[in-house]
Amino acid sequence: MSFLGIDLGTSGLRALLVDDTGAPIGATERHYEAAHPKSGWSEQDPADWIAALEGAVAALKAAHPEFAGLKGIGIAGHMHGATLLDAGDKVIRPCILWNDTRSHAEAALLDGIEKVRDLSGNIVFPGFTAPKLEWVRTHEPQNFARIAKVLLPAAYLNLYLTGDHVADMSDSAGTSWLDVGRREWSDYLLEKGHMRRDQMPRLVEGSARAGTLGAGLAHKWGVGDNVAVAGGAGDNAAAACGIGTMDEGQGFVSLGTSGVILAARRGYSPAPSTAVHTFCHAVPDRWYQMGVMLSATDSLNWLSRITGEKPAALTTALGEDLGPPGSVRFLPYLSGERTPHNDAAIRGAFTGLGADTRREDLTRAVLEGVAFGLRDSFEALKATGAQLESLIAIGGGTGSRYWLKFIATVLGVPLRLPAGGEFGAALGAARLGICAAMGADPQVVMTMPDLGATIAPDEGLRAAYDEAFARFRAAYPAIRATQ
Ligand code: XUL
Repeated sequence: MSFLGIDLGTSGLRALLVDDTGAPIGATERHYEAAHPKSGWSEQDPADWIAALEGAVAALKAAHPEFAGLKGIGIAGHMHGATLLDAGDKVIRPCILWNDTRSHAEAALLDGIEKVRDLSGNIVFPGFTAPKLEWVRTHEPQNFARIAKVLLPAAYLNLYLTGDHVADMSDSAGTSWLDVGRREWSDYLLEKGHMRRDQMPRLVEGSARAGTLGAGLAHKWGVGDNVAVAGGAGDNAAAACGIGTMDEGQGFVSLGTSGVILAARRGYSPAPSTAVHTFCHAVPDRWYQMGVMLSATDSLNWLSRITGEKPAALTTALGEDLGPPGSVRFLPYLSGERTPHNDAAIRGAFTGLGADTRREDLTRAVLEGVAFGLRDSFEALKATGAQLESLIAIGGGTGSRYWLKFIATVLGVPLRLPAGGEFGAALGAARLGICAAMGADPQVVMTMPDLGATIAPDEGLRAAYDEAFARFRAAYPAIRATQ
């Protein structure tokens, strides 16, 4: 028996084949681009996702005879993207992605409407789906008039696999059309966004069976005729499934392009004014909350580009010793910020530069600024009642021990590193496929990975970093006023 987890990411698709215990059999990746036809725009052609999926499946099938025993599939997708389909399921225009900010004005308008935050549990951020549709209504009325269905990227792959319009709760929670507490489409929110219920996909829980792999694909892929397709998940919920973040007290920090601190919640306790995101989890009766900063490793990558030095070389040059806070400060708002500022227009800054400032001081300030940005999200999460005594650390930025030490010290909690192997969104998606095919209990399937090193806060430096964090917070309004 085998199960397939697909992580449909922003820069590529990762396909992971596992056995019925979730142990990896093989994995492969395919890459594609996002187009940026104008500043702040970010779009993708859904045909590229299908080509990547088919290429990945062909490679897994050729390399692993176990593929023939496929029983279940789960899709995790980058969230919020608007894939617009006509009555014949043809894609009307390129998908507008989560990191596209063209609809900031529409987002502000929707966000200001009475009860919208109450029902959706969230600020209507410019990256969310509803404001994108408002933008299309205003700027591309001929496209808007043709819309028969709006699907998120993962749901578009569900359609390709099953022939049905079906989406999971965790991804749908990021549209601003879902009543996130009741886990159903809200007629009020749909009406305010000028959408209709018949334009929405059917809703299922992420771990439930959404449908069956179509006969044509089953034949082409050389698999049986009863392969279950799970509801799937948004990528952060899927990562939480992959890492066993299912219950109160469990959470992770993800140091990727964007930085995320996520806490699993048993109940629904939205706190939109903190700019924390409150979404349905990919399993029934669970929610999760997260703070999202938009430029985490992206900040270091930016410094790398302008200094011509690789990110690893920049961080290695800092040595091992954290030391007290530096005098140079970096505000990590290169692409605006979500938590806690909800400010698409703010941009970053260095302060405290002197004639003696060295490249190492800039690197240090960038790592420190990202750690402080994460602390902002952590404080916002704590204000919702989430209690996190430690966090699992994942994502590309965890390669730097110095950075991890910074973050542990600034947040004041130990960070625990997975020992290795698979633990990301693709594993979470495969686990959803196992639940859908076998009827397995998600709480039993979604276990924590083996953990390796623990990075403890430097207690001797915590007070100094608390003070530096207070100065960092005070810098935002000052910089905002000058932009
Ligand atoms: C979450 C968000 C991103 C995307 C892309 O709200 O916008 O994490 O899911 O990965």
